[in-house]
Amino acid sequence: TYVVTDNCIKCKYTDCVEVCPVDCFYEGENMLVIHPDECIDCGVCEPECPADAIRPDTEPGLDQWLQLNAEYADKWPNLTVKKDALPEAEEFDGQTGKLEKYFS
Ligand code: SF4
Ligand code: F3S
Repeated sequence: TYVVTDNCIKCKYTDCVEVCPVDCFYEGENMLVIHPDECIDCGVCEPECPADAIRPDTEPGLDQWLQLNAEYADKWPNLTVKKDALPEAEEFDGQTGKLEKYFS
């Protein structure tokens, strides 16, 4: 599966949902997550994210993000159509430690 990671938080560009063939993105207030049981590993969303926030879970060190994606994909509503990025997206793009401060 692919997972959404820290840099999506407070950016939420949503370009990813446009290209996903199985509509497996779920929306929180400040970020999206991928449902790991629905993702077919096609990889097309990864290069589409302007914030470079999407990663294959085969990369090391992503256990925390895989768990977070799995947990919140079950709680948050499905998002299938691109919408405006968050107004502060450019400002927050590239900031570190967003999970601790801004996750929702
Ligand atoms: Fe959707 Fe493919 Fe990205 Fe998985 S890898 S979330 S199926 S676009
Ligand atoms: Fe987030 Fe990138 Fe999608 S910022 S909403 S993972 S396009």
